[in-house]
Amino acid sequence: MVIMLIPFACRWHWNLHWWLMGGQTVVLEGLRVCPSERGQGVAGVIQRVTDSYIKQVYPSVTTKRGTRKDNPGPEKLSKFTLLACRAVLSLCGEAESFKGFVSGLKSKLERMEKPGGPKNNQKLFVLKDSHQLKPLLLDPDLPLRLQLPGGAIIQDWQPLKPMESNLEILERRNLTWLVDSVNEKPMFMSFHTPLYPVPFRGGSLRFNIDMFGTDVSTARKALIAHLEQVLEEIHDTVLVQIYMPQTFGGKDDKVL
Ligand SMILES: *[C@@H]1O[C@H](CO)[C@@H](O)[C@H](O)[C@H]1NC(C)=O
Repeated sequence: MVIMLIPFACRWHWNLHWWLMGGQTVVLEGLRVCPSERGQGVAGVIQRVTDSYIKQVYPSVTTKRGTRKDNPGPEKLSKFTLLACRAVLSLCGEAESFKGFVSGLKSKLERMEKPGGPKNNQKLFVLKDSHQLKPLLLDPDLPLRLQLPGGAIIQDWQPLKPMESNLEILERRNLTWLVDSVNEKPMFMSFHTPLYPVPFRGGSLRFNIDMFGTDVSTARKALIAHLEQVLEEIHDTVLVQIYMPQTFGGKDDKVL
């Protein structure tokens, strides 16, 4: 078996409250320093320059958002409002073994639903059409119902409040969405990105899944459904990152 689990590292999402004027948020898209230049304050200089540039060009910006892999520590956190900490599950394996892995997960799920016990008949619906998605995402109840971290839909590392301009950003990413209800108010929502090539092991495919909600048994079903959606497209080595509420990484409630 070559599926590898690197379970439940934690990703921190922070909010740095900036100069208080208007009511807008700038999202830090990414900043990476090459290994040989690290530890010399390069990233800090770049951040200070871009911060003052943004302040000049967009004076109404009040909040900056970003994400980091490690725990920033109390000193750094005191400057930020912590938006959320999400659990991350990583899967890595050869495409040939993926089908077996997914069917293994399915039978595990069936065994977990004890005979005679309460059955989770939760159906999941695939949404690709933004017209169907829009009313669901713009519903003002959504953040509370899905326990959206900091009220934001965090796609991969990027927190986006469910508002019209951010929906356009999400739409450009060609995500495949899953919800547990199309007409009524969904209690669970997840999505995966298209597969994209990464240089890992001389060329691999990667995709990311994000999950929101509180019911871990629905999350298990959703995970299987997302993996099944890509089975026909994968080849060589496949990497999957699954971002989810920390509760899904709990001792008794693991998604996997
Ligand atoms: C989304 O799909 C369009 C049309 O197929 C394509 O041009 C674009 O590159 C895709 N974007 C991403 C992020 O995959």
